Amino acid sequence: MKNTNSQQLFEKAKQYFPGGVNSPVRAFRSVGGTPIFLEKGKGSHVWDADGNEYIDYCGSWGPLILGHANDKVLSAVAKTMQNGTSFGAPTKLENELAELIISNNRFLEKIRFVSSGTEAVMSAIRLARGFTGRNKILKFEGCYHGHSDSLLVKAGSGLVTFGNTSSAGVPESFVNETIVVSLNNKKALEEAFAQFDKQIACVIIEPIPANNGLLLQDKDYLQFLRDICTKHGTLLIFDEVISGFRIGFEGAAGYYDIKPDIVTYGKIIGGGFPVGAYGASKEIMANISPDGSVYQAGTLSGNPVAMSAGIAQLTECLKPNFYQELETKTQTLVKGLSEIKKDNFKVFSIGSIFWLAFTEKKFIKTAEEIDANSMSYFKTLFHHLLEKGIYLGPSGYEVGFVNEAHTAEDIQKTVEAFKKAML
Ligand SMILES: Cc1ncc(COP(=O)(O)O)c(C=O)c1O
Repeated sequence: MKNTNSQQLFEKAKQYFPGGVNSPVRAFRSVGGTPIFLEKGKGSHVWDADGNEYIDYCGSWGPLILGHANDKVLSAVAKTMQNGTSFGAPTKLENELAELIISNNRFLEKIRFVSSGTEAVMSAIRLARGFTGRNKILKFEGCYHGHSDSLLVKAGSGLVTFGNTSSAGVPESFVNETIVVSLNNKKALEEAFAQFDKQIACVIIEPIPANNGLLLQDKDYLQFLRDICTKHGTLLIFDEVISGFRIGFEGAAGYYDIKPDIVTYGKIIGGGFPVGAYGASKEIMANISPDGSVYQAGTLSGNPVAMSAGIAQLTECLKPNFYQELETKTQTLVKGLSEIKKDNFKVFSIGSIFWLAFTEKKFIKTAEEIDANSMSYFKTLFHHLLEKGIYLGPSGYEVGFVNEAHTAEDIQKTVEAFKKAML
């Protein structure tokens, strides 16, 4: 496979950016080799700077549920841009996107648009602290919530810990406000609440944890989490930056029929543009500035171009059978791949999200159950697949996404490519 142009571009990029990239996973460090510089995408396919074509299952890490350069999204964006790209004043497009979301979601009464998933989560946590008057937050090992300081914390050893920072530059005092426990462990939750009763402002979870493999939780566990939060006056935040509008229009909250107190969104909501959002009941959202005392703002929040992309994309998601068809297609892929019996290869999936694992285990529900050594299999597979025209996110801990644009032929080609790659 020719990749001289990507190589040259990467050499140049290294002069400008740390690691040659503007977001670490793009540097291919976990799979080795040179990052592929992408130049063009249409539907389910992308083309790189050397003209190689791939069937894409990364989908910009989730936002592109309709595929690349969707005609409806493009024409909405082009139309809006004719009238300017940003005003820093309200536009009716914000109302339209909010109405589309709120009128089709049982779990939200008010929403605030921001510009990324990180910003949505950071703001939701501040809101939870402002609303409850408490400082501590509880998160789970194996869930990712963006790169704000109090969330770059990983578990220490022990059932309930304050953990360690997972990044330099995060003050110890921040870490001391973040409790970290394992997923799928009721006892750890009970112990945390017993130890820090009336101190925990919120529990934040990816209800479908999809940033460290796909660690699907039982509904019973999520319900337990809901109940224990209610009992202790702690707000439950569902971080639906991945699962929102992906596992059905109401995300994981709708899928499991469990009502969080605050929900955060990103990715799909912006139709491929930088949009995040957080939402809750009117009562909770009344605490946000300028109505309330929790400050949060943004120069480009509710950007009209991004809003119109979101409106165009979510309008498609609301069409009848949209999610059923995505899931059926994903199941065809998963079934085809699951027939490959090699190296304990398994495919875990939910809706249109899938994760490739190499494990003897039938289920993996916690980060600790993932064997780091198994990533060497992914590394080899990843490069074989690239050669065969299949583009996955460049890390074995990342999930893949099936999008509306994937065709039956794409799925069949993908299964064939996997079979050859794993010979
Ligand atoms: C669940 C979850 N929360 C938050 C974030 C952060 O979003 P962003 O990268 O848009 O800042 C991500 C990003 O992947 C995510 O998956």
